[in-house]
Amino acid sequence: MADNEVILAGIALVISSFAFLTSLLQVFQQYYASASGYASCKAKVIGPWARGTHRNFKWKELRFEVRFMTPVIFLAPPSASGGPIPDEPLWEIRGDKESWEQTMTPINNQLGGEWAPRLNSKELVHTADNEKSTWLDLLNALQTRELKSKDWSAEVANDEKVSLGGEGDRTLVVFVQKKNRSWDTMPANVKKPYATTTICHLIEMTAFLGLYWKEVNRSTHRYRAEGNGYILTGEHLADLGIMFTFQKTGVAVFKESSIIPVDEIKDMCFGYVPTIFRDKAQKGANLIAVNEEPDTLEFLQLGSIDEVMQTMAIMGCNNNTVKHFKQEGSRVAHLFPVAFEVLGMLGRVMHIRRNPWRNLPNPTVWHWQRKPFQMSKMLAAFEKCIDDTNNKEFSSPHIGRIRTTSKRIVEMLKGTQKQGPFGIPLLDALHDAIDEHDQILGRAEQGDVMKVVSHVVRYHLQAVLDLVNKNDEYKKLDSAQPEEKEQLFMGLYFSAVREKVLEASTDQHMAKYASRVDTLLWGGYSGGSNPTPTPKHTRTKTNNTSSTLAPPVVSSHHLRSNSSTMLASMASDDVVTLDSDNTERIINDIWCTLVFRMLCWLTLHDFHKKDVQLPKSELIGSRLPVYIA
Ligand SMILES: *[C@@H]1O[C@H](CO)[C@@H](O)[C@H](O)[C@H]1NC(C)=O
Ligand SMILES: *[C@@H]1O[C@H](CO)[C@@H](O)[C@H](O)[C@H]1NC(C)=O
Ligand SMILES: *[C@@H]1O[C@H](CO)[C@@H](O)[C@H](O)[C@H]1NC(C)=O
Ligand SMILES: *[C@@H]1O[C@H](CO)[C@@H](O)[C@H](O)[C@H]1NC(C)=O
Ligand SMILES: *[C@@H]1O[C@H](CO)[C@@H](O)[C@H](O)[C@H]1NC(C)=O
Ligand SMILES: *[C@@H]1O[C@H](CO)[C@@H](O)[C@H](O)[C@H]1NC(C)=O
Repeated sequence: MADNEVILAGIALVISSFAFLTSLLQVFQQYYASASGYASCKAKVIGPWARGTHRNFKWKELRFEVRFMTPVIFLAPPSASGGPIPDEPLWEIRGDKESWEQTMTPINNQLGGEWAPRLNSKELVHTADNEKSTWLDLLNALQTRELKSKDWSAEVANDEKVSLGGEGDRTLVVFVQKKNRSWDTMPANVKKPYATTTICHLIEMTAFLGLYWKEVNRSTHRYRAEGNGYILTGEHLADLGIMFTFQKTGVAVFKESSIIPVDEIKDMCFGYVPTIFRDKAQKGANLIAVNEEPDTLEFLQLGSIDEVMQTMAIMGCNNNTVKHFKQEGSRVAHLFPVAFEVLGMLGRVMHIRRNPWRNLPNPTVWHWQRKPFQMSKMLAAFEKCIDDTNNKEFSSPHIGRIRTTSKRIVEMLKGTQKQGPFGIPLLDALHDAIDEHDQILGRAEQGDVMKVVSHVVRYHLQAVLDLVNKNDEYKKLDSAQPEEKEQLFMGLYFSAVREKVLEASTDQHMAKYASRVDTLLWGGYSGGSNPTPTPKHTRTKTNNTSSTLAPPVVSSHHLRSNSSTMLASMASDDVVTLDSDNTERIINDIWCTLVFRMLCWLTLHDFHKKDVQLPKSELIGSRLPVYIA
């Protein structure tokens, strides 16, 4: 009896222990099940970022919370000290081993070995890893870009036996910050941790990686960019915002087509171009409320036909000229679209000295086709024209300087047989040539220089558009042989276009400005074959000439708000007015300088032939958060 009881009690103990264990397991299972999303934060989804994933028991709610880490990606100058997340360190994407580790970027390659990305010449495209978050690929692409383009420029410098410019010269880098998140706050329709950035930074990043926008539709929220072996698509997700997917579809090349890493990219991506009139120390268009000052020439806006027309109007072009951009059957391109002329004449230099990078995001709505002409031949044609012309306007010392510089550059261009990539010494020579003239043209603080320069640009554009639309001579160019195209074109420029610009500059007002510019830039006309100017008003109003000719004090604010009406608003009468010969000479100096600058600028910089601006200027500087799946 006693034995039976013991046996029964034993059985009961075993059963109840089993039941107890089962229910205990059930409780644990329940707790662990409360850690929802944990499976989505593991290494097979977010790669090395899974290091930041953990479960956190919440005693008040008797459940686990899943915490994980994702990147916040943005672009800033290298000197940036703070990011969107306060008190979190910034990790710069530099492409070196340390940076790959800091940003926890997966190395996509099965070759293995030490510091694998450098060994890997053939990149692998992964099609099987669809469970991975696509921002891992984005980080990988950004690191690869840095690594490969640095390797390439070092190679170029080595080939040419020149020393490469320092890293300190670049003004734009991609940064990553780490952000701790909780799965509790994930929207129901999102299954994987996402990376965060803003729409403007994403657009800048795509330009950086060599993608071009194919679709930007803000009403249907459809976004698509492609190119350089990548594709980025975006659409609207309920409860969240715009979700992008970044994929690698082919082999990416980061060589001569690499974008120059400068801060101006942040404007160029949206069709804004800072000009020589904008002080470099001032903020970019992406940091100011540009809409509040629409009539400034400190930025060109070329991102849509309407914006181009507005820019032309700001320059003071007449309605007939502006209308060409909207009229059926009107031509707005000769050997290349006219918008690139404005860009070359007024755009700021973005090349970094002692570096081989030349590409920029195209800020215009037209493609930059290199096929129909050669920039080097254009420069040679320019040099020939300026050398052959014996008009009296061409005897000024300033033209002499242009002659010397252009000769030197044409000689250097002859040395490089092919159409580029150009050597670093040649790029630096072009850069120097532009800088030399910018010291003259870009003196925006001297309101009069700005007036004369924009006057010349305006009449130049009017004359060019008239030329391509009305001139019979120009029609011959269409049937010209490719070898002589550039020479014929430049010839027309020097005859038809230049004449018109000079004709338009004979009025009293221009003479007044020209006189001031003459004194400011060249210290008054001295020497040469021309007689000393015979001022119409003698300098009797004051004793001190330099104070007479000093520009009126124009605050930068007035400069800006008055730039559209600059020609209408006349300054004081205390000025010597030059006779028409001397006015013509000064206008001719400025015109030649601008054309030469344009040719140099367009040789120095380059655009990808598939890249073209889609209207998205309203997104400039937009901090609208977007997500990368
Ligand atoms: C984020 O989480 C990690 C550990 O997972 C921790 O070391 C770090 O301090 C956290 N950062 C913030 C800002 O809370
Ligand atoms: C956006 O898509 C809608 C509908 O497909 C279309 O009507 C509209 O023209 C598109 N907008 C742009 C800017 O392409
Ligand atoms: C030029 O065109 C604009 C808009 O099309 C118009 O408002 C303006 O009156 C025109 N100016 C002249 C002088 O025709
Ligand atoms: C110019 O010089 C004369 C004497 O040579 C003097 O009387 C006059 O005040 C001076 N004018 C000015 C504006 O300095
Ligand atoms: C003219 O004025 C400037 C500055 O106002 C001064 O530096 C210069 O010496 C003056 N010249 C003469 C001849 O008085
Ligand atoms: C231009 O500047 C002057 C001051 O130099 C100012 O009085 C005028 O209102 C400005 N004109 C415009 C159109 O802003």
